[in-house]
Amino acid sequence: MTDRTDRISVVAIEGDGIGHEVFRAMRRVVDRVMSNRIDWIPALAGLECAEANGGNSLPDETLDLIRLHKVAIKGPTTTPSGGGFKSVNVRLRQELELHSCVRPAIHIPGLPKSHPCDIVVVREGVEGYYDCVEVREGDVVHATAHFSKAGFKRTVRQAVRIVFSRRKKLTLVLKTNILKMWGALYTEAFNEVIAEEGTGLEINYLHIDALSMMLEMHPERFDVLVTENLFGDILSDMTAGLVGGLGVAPGACIGDAYAMFEAVHGSAPDIAGRGIANPTALILSAAMMLEYDGFLHEAKHLREALLQTIAEGDRTGDMGGTLNTEQFTDAILRRL
Ligand code: NAI
Ligand code: MG
Repeated sequence: MTDRTDRISVVAIEGDGIGHEVFRAMRRVVDRVMSNRIDWIPALAGLECAEANGGNSLPDETLDLIRLHKVAIKGPTTTPSGGGFKSVNVRLRQELELHSCVRPAIHIPGLPKSHPCDIVVVREGVEGYYDCVEVREGDVVHATAHFSKAGFKRTVRQAVRIVFSRRKKLTLVLKTNILKMWGALYTEAFNEVIAEEGTGLEINYLHIDALSMMLEMHPERFDVLVTENLFGDILSDMTAGLVGGLGVAPGACIGDAYAMFEAVHGSAPDIAGRGIANPTALILSAAMMLEYDGFLHEAKHLREALLQTIAEGDRTGDMGGTLNTEQFTDAILRRL
């Protein structure tokens, strides 16, 4: 990839809850670092969208805009629990075939609870229990999930591409002693990709439970973890916790044709509307987006200014500081 100097257009989905607050903060710093070279194309999705559009939480226009512009960045969207509409995130990943969720957990210097680790979770994005048929018969529920070899191979290929640019240790995380058939199928998919493209990598196989314990004790031993959808969802919240919490954990959902960037965290209804949310995760997601688009210099500049702000003690409450979202954003802008 080379450094670009032209303009790009990006589909902008603010989401709901703290989405508006962190999105506004992200746009201010990205517009500064990009000298206003991004055309933001507003699009709707989520709970507020459903309320305004007769229950439709993901309009076709939003999907069409992403198909047209190829890249989107999204604030969190609320998903009703135990009923209601299907998660907008899950639908976006499935409709656009965003088969790999890439979630780095990188040490944030200065944060007392941030371990010195540098891990990337690569999570399968469209299959498993997120593509599940649930049938209730009286007091019993049958949940039938869907796993495919071709599907998981796409995610493993993405993980292999990432691991080659890093420390070259790749760990497959499943639960093959209990979930035997799909465990074997996904392991086959993994081994086939490694045989084709993984020469020179250090390969490990771990069960999700054993890995959870080892991660807590020795996070520095891990590099790239590749896993299925539900395990990856849980694991990436856990790795977020290792480096300072959900407020600092970015993510990308990558497909062959499109990419969507979003923080790992949700809409945080407990703090929404109070102007105190930490925009770090979405800003780091935007840095991943700039890198994906070839704006390497701008991505580096943005990340450095953000990390310097935190290291020098200008922080939001979840990071142990006293600044609100706007004050924290001003502090980053001063360093850009
Ligand atoms: P959550 O991530 O919204 O919140 C968990 C805890 O972390 C809360 O105490 C919250 O205040 C805190 N937190 C999260 N992000 C923060 C930030 N940027 N700054 C400061 N504190 C932050 O998870 P929860 O409560 O389970 O989910 C709330 C809603 O979000 C649900 O409807 C869920 O389905 C949805 N969700 C959406 C996601 C997305 O759009 N990508 C991802 C995860 C959840
Ligand atoms: Mg999650």
